Amino acid sequence: MSNDEFNGKVVLVTGAGSGIGREAALAFAARGALVHGVDLNEQAVIETRALITKLGGKAEAMRVDVSAEREVAALIEHIAARSGRLDVAFNNAGITGQAHRLEDYPTADFDKVIAVNLRSVFLGMKYQLPLIKKGGGGAIVNTASVAALTGPGGMSAYAASKHGVHGLTRVAAMENAAHRVRINALAPGWTETPMVQVASAQNPGFAKLATTAIPAKRGGQPSEIAAAAVWLASDAASYVMGQMLVVDGGMTI
Ligand code: NAI
Repeated sequence: MSNDEFNGKVVLVTGAGSGIGREAALAFAARGALVHGVDLNEQAVIETRALITKLGGKAEAMRVDVSAEREVAALIEHIAARSGRLDVAFNNAGITGQAHRLEDYPTADFDKVIAVNLRSVFLGMKYQLPLIKKGGGGAIVNTASVAALTGPGGMSAYAASKHGVHGLTRVAAMENAAHRVRINALAPGWTETPMVQVASAQNPGFAKLATTAIPAKRGGQPSEIAAAAVWLASDAASYVMGQMLVVDGGMTI
């Protein structure tokens, strides 16, 4: 992939303040894109913008709660007003929620994980699609997880939300393939981001999984997941539609 692959393109990255989202924002900017990074954590996304600017890239930063419809609508209006177009959206923000057996899972916590991980992808695509189509087409990448393929104990809300992201991605891809918008999902395995560090601190058994359950015998780096997101969004993937790309060091082989 050339370093100017995304020259002149406008790319939205959600959850851009940390982990996979931050690395993806840096990677898109390094390839010439103007990146609109958004995150619930305003300070963190401002830091991402500063990192991109320091490297000579172009970025904007905004605090957005991706589960709130009004904020998502306002974000897309802002991008239309500022940049006039949207070529790529990486709907990546997400949370795991605390682990509980299903019968003990607090209903409000379940609703929250579904809102942040799944409702956000629905809302994101709902508002992104008209602007992407207005510009003649583009690509959307939604972050699912290996939990879209498996049933990790204790993670009912998370697994349900990520299975949902997979399903939504396929429907959206089906509806938009003829409109020149390619829509795919990305399923990271264990990736060494703050999300996993928090989960490991809460559950030491979880931390051990990295070396026992992954054939590669290591966790993934956020940059390895970001590279897959960039590829899915690029013209190199021009005939890839409605797929979920698993990037997991062999965890689900
Ligand atoms: P992270 O915790 O490092 O970053 C997630 C970012 O999303 C944070 O900056 C957070 O502030 C933001 N965020 C949370 N709720 C938000 C909201 N309502 N609105 C806007 N932003 C919000 O996590 P990581 O690991 O980078 O995760 C990114 C995506 O990758 C998530 O969707 C996650 O489920 C997925 N994933 C991560 C894996 C891992 O092992 N780290 C494995 C599989 C999937």
